[in-house]
Amino acid sequence: MSSSQHLISGVIILSTLLGVDAFNGYYEYNVVQCRFSSGDLSDMEYIRSYWFNKAEYIRFNSTVGKHVGYTAYGVYNAELKNNNSALLAQERGEKDRYCKGNAPTFINAILTKKVEPEVRLTMGKASTGGHPAMLVCSAYDFYPKMIRVTWHRDGREVTGDVVSSEELADGDWYYQTHSHLEFTPKAGEKISCVVEHASLREPLEITWDPSMPEPERNKIAIGAAALVLGLIVTAAGFIYYKTKSRGRILVPSG
Ligand SMILES: *[C@@H]1O[C@H](CO)[C@@H](O)[C@H](O)[C@H]1NC(C)=O
Ligand SMILES: *[C@@H]1O[C@H](CO)[C@@H](O)[C@H](O)[C@H]1NC(C)=O
Repeated sequence: MSSSQHLISGVIILSTLLGVDAFNGYYEYNVVQCRFSSGDLSDMEYIRSYWFNKAEYIRFNSTVGKHVGYTAYGVYNAELKNNNSALLAQERGEKDRYCKGNAPTFINAILTKKVEPEVRLTMGKASTGGHPAMLVCSAYDFYPKMIRVTWHRDGREVTGDVVSSEELADGDWYYQTHSHLEFTPKAGEKISCVVEHASLREPLEITWDPSMPEPERNKIAIGAAALVLGLIVTAAGFIYYKTKSRGRILVPSG
C-alpha cells in the first residue's frame, strides 16, 4: 500500500504568547501555522493570526501577502502593519525561512511515525434483517489515519453487506475504525478480516473461529450448573417428602 502521500501533510503550529492581563482576565496572543499537504512542500502556506479574547482580529496569510483585519481595531492595525515595509518584508519571507526551513524536522519527528493497529474480530448483532449473523472487525490505536479493512470469504474479497466506519480520532493522535460484515453462515467456510496499514509490512489477516465465542460458552456452563443444582434440590425435596409422608402414614396405623 502506498502510504507516502497521506503521511506528508500537516500543520506545524507555533504559538507565541504576547501579553497577558491576568488581573482583568484578558489575554492577547498570536499563532503561527505552517500548513502543507504535499511532500515537496510546494503548497506551503504561512499564516500568522492575532487573537484577543478568543477572537481573531488580524491574519497574515502568505498567499494573500499582507495583513487583513476583521474588526475595526484589526483593520486599523492591519493597515499599520502593512505600512511597515520592514515588517511586511519579514512576514513575506517567513514561509521559506521558518516553514520550509523547519518542515523536514517536523516531518521526520512526527509525520513519519507509524503505530500498528490492534485488530479484534467479534460477533455482533445483525441489524438489517437480510442476514442472521454479523461480524465486526475493529482496529484500534493506529497511526497514521489511513487504513484499509476488507473481508475475505473462502479467499475471495467480499464487497456487499459491508459497512465501515470512518477513521475515528481518539484525540491522542491514535485512530480506530470498525468494519461490519453481515452474512449467512455456511458450514466449513473461512471468513477473515484483512487489515492493511502503513505500519504493517504485510496485510494482517484474522480468521473468524466459528466455534462458540467465550461468553456464550460461559453462559451455557452456568446454565448447566444451575440445572444440575436445581435437579439435586428437587430430588432432595422429593426424597424428604416421601420419607415424611411415609412416616405420617405409619403413625395412625401403628
Ligand atoms: C490563505 O489565502 C488563500 C487565498 O485567498 C486561501 O485560499 C487560503 O484558504 C487562505 N488560508 C487560510 C488558512 O486562511
Ligand atoms: C498607511 O499608509 C497610507 C499611505 O501612506 C496612509 O494613507 C494611511 O493613513 C496609513 N495607515 C495607517 C493606519 O497609518
